[in-house]
Amino acid sequence: MINRKFDDSADIDHILLTEEQIADAVSAIAAKIDADSRESERDLLLLGILKGSVVFMGDLMKKLKTPVEIDFMKVSSYGSSTVSSGKINILLDLHRKDLSDKDIIIVEDIIDSGRTLSYLLKYLEIAGAGSVKTCTLLDKPSRRSVEFIPDYTGFTIPDEFVVGYGLDYNEHYRSLPYIGVLKPGVWKN
Ligand code: IMP
Ligand code: MG
Repeated sequence: MINRKFDDSADIDHILLTEEQIADAVSAIAAKIDADSRESERDLLLLGILKGSVVFMGDLMKKLKTPVEIDFMKVSSYGSSTVSSGKINILLDLHRKDLSDKDIIIVEDIIDSGRTLSYLLKYLEIAGAGSVKTCTLLDKPSRRSVEFIPDYTGFTIPDEFVVGYGLDYNEHYRSLPYIGVLKPGVWKN
């Protein structure tokens, strides 16, 4: 059940990235994607990974000048709320036969161990996608357990657990418009 607190922002220790910083980064990524997409004869397909990417994906698609299709997959990496286990399960798959006509950009909220995106990249290549690139708003490279470098990154951040702008802790805080660090104790108890 939803914890009916008055205000999610009361649990935020400090803001790591403001709405303005995020908006600038999203515009910069959109400009890069537009530039990189100019030559391709395939259609661009943004593939959001549910649920964390929805806010980023919504803002990103509005900033692109290149026409895009969107689709979604849902995956889980089982583990505790703040640690991913590395075992990837596909909870919602793509059921389409036109992947070879598409330049896919996988859109993620954050890369931590790197397992989710390296798995999905291989999965979509094997599924026959025309091309596959990866885009993440946030990257925590210090946490990698598999080597992975995304094609588009908004911000490289330190090893702190962050919420807001789509990112959650136990399904809370996704609707905060900024990215913040939870107060000590909120996610440890
Ligand atoms: P990876 O497979 O370890 O790279 O896992 C990436 C996924 O872990 C993200 O899509 C998030 O769901 C989750 N995650 C990792 N770090 C954070 C964080 O700081 N806040 C919220 N979710 C996180
Ligand atoms: Mg996620």
